[in-house]
Amino acid sequence: MNPIIAPSLLSSDFVNLEKEIKMLNKSQADWIHLDIMDGHFVPNITFGMPVIRAIKRVAQKPLDVHLMIEKPERFITDFKNAGADCLSVHWETCPHLHRTIHQIKDLDMLAGVAINPHTPVSFLEDIINDVDFVLLMSVNPGFGGQRFISNSIKRAKELRKLIDKHQSNALIEVDGGVDLDNAPTLVDVGVDILVAGNTVFGAENPTEVIKRLKGLSCE
Ligand code: DX5
Ligand code: ZN
Repeated sequence: MNPIIAPSLLSSDFVNLEKEIKMLNKSQADWIHLDIMDGHFVPNITFGMPVIRAIKRVAQKPLDVHLMIEKPERFITDFKNAGADCLSVHWETCPHLHRTIHQIKDLDMLAGVAINPHTPVSFLEDIINDVDFVLLMSVNPGFGGQRFISNSIKRAKELRKLIDKHQSNALIEVDGGVDLDNAPTLVDVGVDILVAGNTVFGAENPTEVIKRLKGLSCE
């Protein structure tokens, strides 16, 4: 099985966003990853609905929207209307996670739960059969281009075990510092979705890097 590749637009050239998206349309990328930050949950602010709507007009691939915002339940319908196909919320921001996940699913989006590098994987035990995917942060959320936290490999293995134990269909997405060196190991331990920002958009030839990531496979 080859991984789903989700380049993160955070590291793209925002002046030439249309060109960047058209490059992704033609590439082997599967999803387009959008990082929404509010300056509260994470120490950075990115973009919101008007930009997502504009991206949607050009994108021919599903939009994978990663919410790094407080009280995300306020905006689920707005993100759907802006064009989100997959929507993930952080475990750390959701006291009523089960309700929020089902709010997302009821709007026919794939629902994901994201966890920070210090949040125990075992905390997902009672939500794993409700989510479509788990987004494992492999850096502290807030910025692109950070170094991969190597403990994330152990966490991905643990999550694979938890998913198998519960016979859940949840996919594993890894986000942060993914590169051509660590990606093969991630795929080997059972990661299904690779997010890559800097590795794709910082490359001479982004299309070729996407192709190489897509070419990785495991049993
Ligand atoms: C970080 C974001 C990531 C980021 C990944 O908070 O969630 O999606 O854009 O970028 P790289 O691959 O450069 O670490
Ligand atoms: Zn992200």
